[in-house]
Amino acid sequence: MNFTSIDNLSVSNTDHNNRMRINILIIEDSPSDYKLILYLLRKAGYTIARSECIDDADQLREALDQRIWNVIISDYSLPHFNAPAALKILQEKELDIPFIVVSGQIGEDTAVEMMRSGAHDYLMKDNLSRLAPVVERELREAQVRAERRKTQKQNLIQYQQLTALYTIESAIISNLDLDKVLNILLEQVIKYFEVDAADVLIWDKNRECLVYRTGLGFHSTLLQYTHLKIGEGYAGKAAVDKKIIYIPDILNDNTLLLDSMKAKNDPFTSYYGVPLVVKDNLTGVLEIFHHKKFELSQESLAFLISISNQAAIAIDNLQLLEQLSIKNKELTNAYDATLEGWAHALDIRHKESVDHSRRVTDLSIKLAIAAGFSGESLEHIRRGALLHDIGKLAIPDHILLKPGKLTPEERMIIQQHPVYAFDWLSPIEYLKPALDIPYCHHEKWDGSGYPRALSRNEIPLAARIFAIVDVWDALRSERPYRAAWQVEKVMEYILSENGKHFDPSVVDLFMDTVEL
Ligand code: C2E
Ligand code: SIN
Ligand code: SIN
Ligand code: FE
Ligand code: FE
Repeated sequence: MNFTSIDNLSVSNTDHNNRMRINILIIEDSPSDYKLILYLLRKAGYTIARSECIDDADQLREALDQRIWNVIISDYSLPHFNAPAALKILQEKELDIPFIVVSGQIGEDTAVEMMRSGAHDYLMKDNLSRLAPVVERELREAQVRAERRKTQKQNLIQYQQLTALYTIESAIISNLDLDKVLNILLEQVIKYFEVDAADVLIWDKNRECLVYRTGLGFHSTLLQYTHLKIGEGYAGKAAVDKKIIYIPDILNDNTLLLDSMKAKNDPFTSYYGVPLVVKDNLTGVLEIFHHKKFELSQESLAFLISISNQAAIAIDNLQLLEQLSIKNKELTNAYDATLEGWAHALDIRHKESVDHSRRVTDLSIKLAIAAGFSGESLEHIRRGALLHDIGKLAIPDHILLKPGKLTPEERMIIQQHPVYAFDWLSPIEYLKPALDIPYCHHEKWDGSGYPRALSRNEIPLAARIFAIVDVWDALRSERPYRAAWQVEKVMEYILSENGKHFDPSVVDLFMDTVEL
């Protein structure tokens, strides 16, 4: 038995007489009882928008799948069905619909058991005066429960959204590089929207195309070769329109030229392309792919836009930083070229071979690496070695280029050259860390050097290393006051100064490292 009746089809919850409109499902084998229930509810002021009367499990399942019922009124026992079995089906389907049992005779035990298994109330057939008030109360309570569920769900969504945004924000402000930030962003996108894959294409201003930057969840690496001109492919279309593009079914889509690589290697079905725009400037496109068909709710779309705004800002900021660091690198290169110019000028004045400065620099670097220096500190050693005798620019020619022995006064003047170097270079921020060698390369291990007579570990290691390189190179070179020495003589000299002029551990290092 399955009756249906429809009072009218308007969609609002109250009709024009302000009567409550309800959809009611009745589980009942007696047509007269069904009609009686409808009659009583209408009389109490309800408009029955829809009602159905069913009497077995299959009909109930089918009816419940329509998901339209405001209330269920069920006979306790039917020939092929009963209220406990109906409640079970309701629970299986996780539906929260007021369920009111109506019965001819119902013992107290049965009543208690019914309530326990989830019925909201029970009524005797011979006293249905409570029907309308009970229905009214249950509708009200169901509404309250529904609102509470909705609030909880919204709270959860809000919490998840805030967590995702916070995670991305933290990545942005902790100065990670662009790829790391985008990776974290994509992780959040995949987790939050429950999609299979996502990537970011960056707008390359110079080449005027969208270039793959980073992606997650792809089985193929071919995507990494993506280059799209504006307007090309889905992403290019999103970029040119500055609008989100949604393709529900990529394989059956022929509105646009599909980027063929995408289709071939990963059989994705649904696609979203979101333009990343900051202050009207395109910075890239965020793409989302899912193997199964999917569509985002309005709410999810709004959130996708928030995430995309973050992505756009991150790309904009970090690209600015990248450009700055490229500019900085260019500036450093320009400085370094200037330093080499100075060193070269000094070599010429000193009547040295053109590559003297480069020679002592290269050997110093080699020894410094062997001594464990690395990274920035090697750069400082390189600059320091290049500039070690820059202070000699202040020494007059008649002393510097004197063919014979120096007088004590002349020697005193020449011994000022490390101090001149310190005075000139220390105001230059960029050269401050490179001062050890220019300032300390004439200090001696036993404390008999100049300008400060430092000894042993008071002398910076870089300067102790350089001192050997300097003497090694000076003695092998011709000077205005003497001829160049033979290699063996120089070696012998260095060994004889072990522990006097030179640090013994650096002499060992030198012997192991230098190629004669
Ligand atoms: P430089 O000629 O480049 O020498 C650097 C260092 O190598 C010297 O530091 C010294 O430790 C060592 N060295 C160079 N030539 C000799 C040498 O013939 N015998 C020995 N035993 N060691 C040598 P130092 O002595 O502090 O000299 C610093 C700078 O002063 C020299 O740089 C050079 O420009 C100048 N200088 C030193 N002695 C004379 C000299 O007798 N006549 C002239 N015209 N200049 C000198
Ligand atoms: C300096 O370059 O400041 C001198 C090195 C030192 O004595 O520590
Ligand atoms: C050079 O001649 O420039 C190297 C020796 C020194 O430091 O005086
Ligand atoms: Fe010197
Ligand atoms: Fe020198």
